[in-house]
Amino acid sequence: MPQMELVKMVILLVFISSTFYSTPVHARSHHHHHKKHPRRDGSEPPPSPSISLPPAPAPAPSPEPTTAVLNVLSFGAVGDGVTDDTEAFKSAWDSACEEGPGVVLVPQGYAFKISSTIFAGPCHGELTLQVDGTIMPPDGPDAWPQGTSRRQWLVFYRANDLTLQGGGLFDGKGAKWWDLPCKPHKGRNHTTLTGPCDSPVAFRFFMSSNLAVHRIRIHNSPQFHFRFDNCRNVTVDAISINSPALSPNTDGIHVENSVDVGIYNSVISSGDDCVSIGAGSTNIHIRNLTCGPSHGISIGSLGKQNTRACVTNVTVKDSVIKHSDNGVRIKTWQGGSGSVSWVSFENIRMDTVRNPIIINQYYCLTKVCKNQTSAVYVSDVSYAGIKGSYDTRSPPIHFGCSDAVPCTNITLTDVELLPAQGDAIADPFCWNVYGESQTLTIPPVSCLLQGLPRSIMDIDSDRCY
Ligand SMILES: *[C@@H]1O[C@H](CO)[C@@H](O)[C@H](O)[C@H]1NC(C)=O
Ligand SMILES: *[C@@H]1O[C@H](CO)[C@@H](O)[C@H](O)[C@H]1NC(C)=O
Ligand SMILES: *[C@@H]1O[C@H](CO)[C@@H](O)[C@H](O)[C@H]1NC(C)=O
Ligand SMILES: *[C@@H]1O[C@H](CO)[C@@H](O)[C@H](O)[C@H]1NC(C)=O
Ligand SMILES: *[C@@H]1O[C@H](CO)[C@@H](O)[C@H](O)[C@H]1NC(C)=O
Ligand SMILES: *[C@@H]1O[C@H](CO)[C@@H](O)[C@H](O)[C@H]1NC(C)=O
Repeated sequence: MPQMELVKMVILLVFISSTFYSTPVHARSHHHHHKKHPRRDGSEPPPSPSISLPPAPAPAPSPEPTTAVLNVLSFGAVGDGVTDDTEAFKSAWDSACEEGPGVVLVPQGYAFKISSTIFAGPCHGELTLQVDGTIMPPDGPDAWPQGTSRRQWLVFYRANDLTLQGGGLFDGKGAKWWDLPCKPHKGRNHTTLTGPCDSPVAFRFFMSSNLAVHRIRIHNSPQFHFRFDNCRNVTVDAISINSPALSPNTDGIHVENSVDVGIYNSVISSGDDCVSIGAGSTNIHIRNLTCGPSHGISIGSLGKQNTRACVTNVTVKDSVIKHSDNGVRIKTWQGGSGSVSWVSFENIRMDTVRNPIIINQYYCLTKVCKNQTSAVYVSDVSYAGIKGSYDTRSPPIHFGCSDAVPCTNITLTDVELLPAQGDAIADPFCWNVYGESQTLTIPPVSCLLQGLPRSIMDIDSDRCY
């Protein structure tokens, strides 16, 4: 989405959510008096003594901030799976955010229904959202409240120093969204029909830094499960994401315009990319991920509609990709600009993967994309220790680089890919790609061009730094 549109959307949503929630908050229950905890600056009156607070701190005379635990039940949440608990969650968040540091506790043994909501910061001190129960959205497009965004469910905006953790479950209730007629293959004869298509991303972290997401379980998101945009210093560890192989656009984790993102020790199966890395991503580290079924780990798509994209310093290592359409993929549209550079895929086991190693600079969803004379420049990509089996419907190694801009410095070391069953098929495919195999590979790759293209100076000038 173009940057301007995104910014407008966010402003609109922030506006909508603030007008939406300011009135009912006061009408709901006495629990909302929690909103009137004394602020640290003393600008609000103390709470009425008749309100008993669960482990909330006394108005602290001590200079050390204490960590309050704010249970959403104390803010009026019901957790019966039917009642809309959005306001209670918002109140708990706002309290914790104002008073921080704090823990917002979503207790075990309850199922909370939450509508599309923006949890906004910046907050006073570190916040932990401890989710031990179940959280779910309204069930499908018809149940989605009017006037709330259909493109995102749980949004964390300017939420710095936030930890999201717990042994609970986020149940995205995606099935009715996947069945919208506009989704791929939902029309007759597997065509796509028109109609409203917006579907919510389950978690969106926007303009936030110092985030940790630990041990979260989520399944069946209507669209992407996690999206990090304009974030910095993000650690995702030991999470589990699970959606059916045929659920459309259910990328596990999408990252864009973000810096210093680590994704570790997690298990992801979905109907789209396990992890997708979009434009503006720098210093992305992925380690010990088990992916599949999925569409693999992708950088891109980049350069759509002649946009400029920069992705640099991406490492994916010690991971497994199984029963997936792609393994490690770089995909760009023709006509873009910018660069993808310093990418390392290392020690990755493939199990029955259709395109284990693929660069596709002719990415095109409509099949009528025109040839264009610019492209996102791909360079300095190394594949080391990529082993396992491929699904013989496609060659295991495919480097389809742009006519306009060759890929350069693509290196292969210890690559061993064997057919999952049947005979090995077609040789690796190379088009306009420079680099070398540093060891013997299986299958042998003899189609890489050696050295550097003559036009290297022109290309390099377009590289992003
Ligand atoms: C679907 O495909 C069948 C066989 O290819 C064809 O006879 C039928 O007309 C198609 N239906 C529509 C609605 O396109
Ligand atoms: C990154 O975020 C973590 C919290 O998730 C924090 O402990 C750490 O200090 C941050 N690092 C930097 C460089 O800000
Ligand atoms: C890799 O992640 C899995 C969870 O998917 C975990 O059980 C295992 O201990 C991790 N391995 C290492 C070496 O951290
Ligand atoms: C590349 O990213 C890693 C984190 O994934 C970071 O430790 C390293 O310093 C980065 N390298 C450069 C040259 O910035
Ligand atoms: C685009 O370029 C490819 C390869 O150079 C060529 O085979 C194809 O015919 C071209 N397509 C169009 C629409 O010009
Ligand atoms: C080629 O890329 C590798 C990283 O994959 C890097 O270490 C090396 O310096 C690059 N070579 C050149 C000539 O830039």
